[in-house]
Amino acid sequence: MIVSVRELSYEDLKNKLDPNDKILLWSCNACIALCEVGGTDNLNLLEEMLTADGYEVIGKELISIGCIYSLVQDRINNPNKKDLFNEATTIISLTCEDGAEIPKCLLKEKKVICVAKTVGVGNFTEDKGMILTSPFEWTGFEANEEGYGISEISEKLDLYPSFFDESKAPINSNEDLIQVTINGKECSVKKGTTIMQAAEDNGFKIPRLCANPDLTADANCRLCLVKVEGQKELLPACAANVTNNMKVITQDKELNHIRKTILELLLATNEHNCLTCFKGNATVSGACELQGLIREFGIQNTRFEQNKEKVPVDSTSPILNYDPNKCILCGRCVRACREIAGKDNIGFANRGAQTFVAVGANKKFNQSACVECEACIGVCPTGAITEKITHYSGEEWEGMLVYQS
Ligand code: SF4
Ligand code: SF4
Ligand code: SF4
Ligand code: FES
Repeated sequence: MIVSVRELSYEDLKNKLDPNDKILLWSCNACIALCEVGGTDNLNLLEEMLTADGYEVIGKELISIGCIYSLVQDRINNPNKKDLFNEATTIISLTCEDGAEIPKCLLKEKKVICVAKTVGVGNFTEDKGMILTSPFEWTGFEANEEGYGISEISEKLDLYPSFFDESKAPINSNEDLIQVTINGKECSVKKGTTIMQAAEDNGFKIPRLCANPDLTADANCRLCLVKVEGQKELLPACAANVTNNMKVITQDKELNHIRKTILELLLATNEHNCLTCFKGNATVSGACELQGLIREFGIQNTRFEQNKEKVPVDSTSPILNYDPNKCILCGRCVRACREIAGKDNIGFANRGAQTFVAVGANKKFNQSACVECEACIGVCPTGAITEKITHYSGEEWEGMLVYQS
């Protein structure tokens, strides 16, 4: 992985901007997101800071891998994005330095500002985060398998160890805030926030499977349904926004029952034996969101009959395995391929109980237009799409059987 550390202070960045700039924020979602300079949260934070300082941010674009030329080119030429790129005068690039070279090359007339300095190559570790193991010579660091953490690198090279200071994010004026009551707690939340985000910001986590912060909402799994006073129907918290004086219940016996039933149906329509699933093994334990929910809801078995025929696993891709038997049709991969990779290589085929995620026009991965960007791997909540490199890498198997068919 490429290791990059923030080089510009917020003041440095503002000094490179003109008040009339039309700014497009651009971020890669791969290495730089693990270096804590890129990714959705940082895009959102920077947008808030710049907007509060009077700059015009006309858009934010997240791309799965910012250093693949063809991917960036496809995004810029995408008919739905063309106007945005044309209108922008300035691109602020939350990518490594290499990643910033591509918009510089493809959008020659625009000002492209790279926020980070690339310092070498390293690994992502669970305990230390990103570490630098093979530094560039100019850094003065020696190659070291143990690696250097971002704080150590920043200190020595006079860089910044984290993203722009959150304390500089604007404090919402009272006009931007509305009052909602969530599970009896009175809360002030920002206008335009989803019920899910508002609940989470106030300490109430709502179960979800199809929602992901990097993707648009699709509201298809129905796990996040909540009660809203005055509404006959339950509302999907991931897609419905809060309104002033809204009263929301995120959890009670009835909602619990609905969520349990949905989870049991998902188990019945798919093959889930966590002990033999790559996402259920020790090295990636906690990675399966479905398994996490099954545990949380104390589900030992399903009342519904298993009704799906087993279909072959597609292991033709060099980077991933696709096991349709573990797919819960949440659609995250489909949206990630479209929205983050800009490829539309995977999509839903058929209808009703016959629906499945098809690759290309029902091809195998190695015959499709997949650019191996990994965007779909990162968002799949189950063991349906898994990264090949993690397979068989476990030292031990986790001993807790959650569900066996
Ligand atoms: S996808 Fe998740 S729930 Fe299904 S078998 Fe794998 S670990 Fe278990
Ligand atoms: S299908 Fe291929 S191109 Fe699409 S997100 Fe997955 S890895 Fe990227
Ligand atoms: S493959 Fe994974 S991400 Fe895609 S629809 Fe199935 S469960 Fe969701
Ligand atoms: S998480 Fe809201 S409907 Fe799936």
